Amino acid sequence: MTGCSDSFQRPINYLRISVTDRCNLRCVYCMPVDGVRWLAQGDILTYEEIYTIARAAAELGISKIRLTGGEPLARSDLSHLVRMLASINGVEDISLTTNGTRLGSCAAELKAAGLRRVNVSLDTFKADRFQSITRGSHSIDDVLEGIEAARSAGLNPVKINMVVVGGVNDDELLDFAARTINDEWHVRFIEFMPVVGEAIETKFVSVSEMRRRLEVLGGLEPYLSGIGNGPAKYFRFARAKGTIGFITPVSEHFCFSCNRLRLTSDGKLRSCLLSEQEVDLKHPLRNGASSDGLKELIRQAVANKPLQHRLAEGYAPKDRPFSQVGG
Ligand code: GTP
Ligand code: 5AD
Ligand code: SF4
Repeated sequence: MTGCSDSFQRPINYLRISVTDRCNLRCVYCMPVDGVRWLAQGDILTYEEIYTIARAAAELGISKIRLTGGEPLARSDLSHLVRMLASINGVEDISLTTNGTRLGSCAAELKAAGLRRVNVSLDTFKADRFQSITRGSHSIDDVLEGIEAARSAGLNPVKINMVVVGGVNDDELLDFAARTINDEWHVRFIEFMPVVGEAIETKFVSVSEMRRRLEVLGGLEPYLSGIGNGPAKYFRFARAKGTIGFITPVSEHFCFSCNRLRLTSDGKLRSCLLSEQEVDLKHPLRNGASSDGLKELIRQAVANKPLQHRLAEGYAPKDRPFSQVGG
C-alpha cells in the first residue's frame, strides 16, 4: 500500500514516536508543577516492538518518523533503534526532537545510524532563566554544545524550537531571531499551548505579534524550500544565512493539513496531540497480533482522527501531559 488518508482526506505519512516518558528536565510549559509519575519499565515498548509497529505503519504509507520523548536521549542506545528504523522499506526521513542536553556525546553516532536531522528545544540564552524554565539543575552550556555537535555531525538543518511564553522569555525574541542572520541558525517560534493547567501564568503572544516585534530587524521573506514535515511556515531576513519558522497551533491552527499520528511510549496510537482518543497497540502486539492485525488497528486510529483541536473552546486533554506525548 502506498498511502493512507483519514476520513477528511488528509494523507497521513508522518509518525511521531515517543520512546520514553522520562525527561531530565521539567519545563514549565510541558510538565505539571507536581511532576509526573514515570511509567513502569515493563509498560514501555521495547525497541523490537517499536520496530514492528513502525514497519506496519510504513506499509500503510508512513514515510517520515520523528523520535520524541519525554527526552528521547534519556533512553539508552537510541542509535540502535534509529538503525532498526532506517532499515524499514519506505521510511525516508528519521528525525529527532530533543532538549539537547545529551546530544554532545551522541550526535555523530546517531548520524551514522541513519538519523537525518534534529530539532532542539531552547527557550532562552540566559543561564539562570534556563534553570527556572526547566526547573532543573542542568546547564544551558550542555544544550549549546549539543547544538554545535549536531551541526558538526551533519544532522542538518538543526532547528531550534523556542516556545514563546509571554512574561517568561518573549523579551528574547530579537536575540533568537538575530542568530539566524549571521550564524545559519534555524529558529522556530512556537505559540504556547495552554495545556499545563495553572502551572504557569502567561500572557499569550501570537505569531502576528511576534512578527510585529521582529520588524526592527528588517523584512521577512517567505522561504519556500521544504525543510520539515511539520506545521512551521518558514521565512528569512534578506541575506540571512538561517531561517525563521513560525508555528501557530493557537492563533491559526494547521489541523486541516495535519499529516501525523503519535505513538506513546506505552504503545498507544494517538491520532491527535490535543485529543484523548487512543488505540492500544501494545496489548494486541504482546498477545500475538500479526502485522495485518496491527495495520487494521492503525487504520482504525487514522479513520477516527479528529478534524481539529478544540483549544479555542477551552478543551485540552487531561489524561497525559505533553511530556508523555512528545509535543
Ligand atoms: P519538522 O517540521 O519535520 O522539523 O518537525 P516538527 O515541527 O513537526 O516537529 P517538532 O517536534 O520540532 O515540533 C515543533 C512544535 O510543533 C512542537 O511544539 C509541537 O508541539 C508542535 N506541533 C507539532 N505537530 C503538531 C500538531 O500536530 N499539532 C499541534 N497542535 N502542534 C504540533
Ligand atoms: N506549547 C507549545 N509547545 C510545546 N512544547 C512542549 N510543550 C508545549 C506547549 N505547551 C514543545 C517543546 C518541544 C516540542 C516537542 O514541543 O518545546 O520543542
Ligand atoms: Fe493534527 Fe491534532 Fe495537531 Fe490539529 S491539533 S494539527 S489535528 S495533531
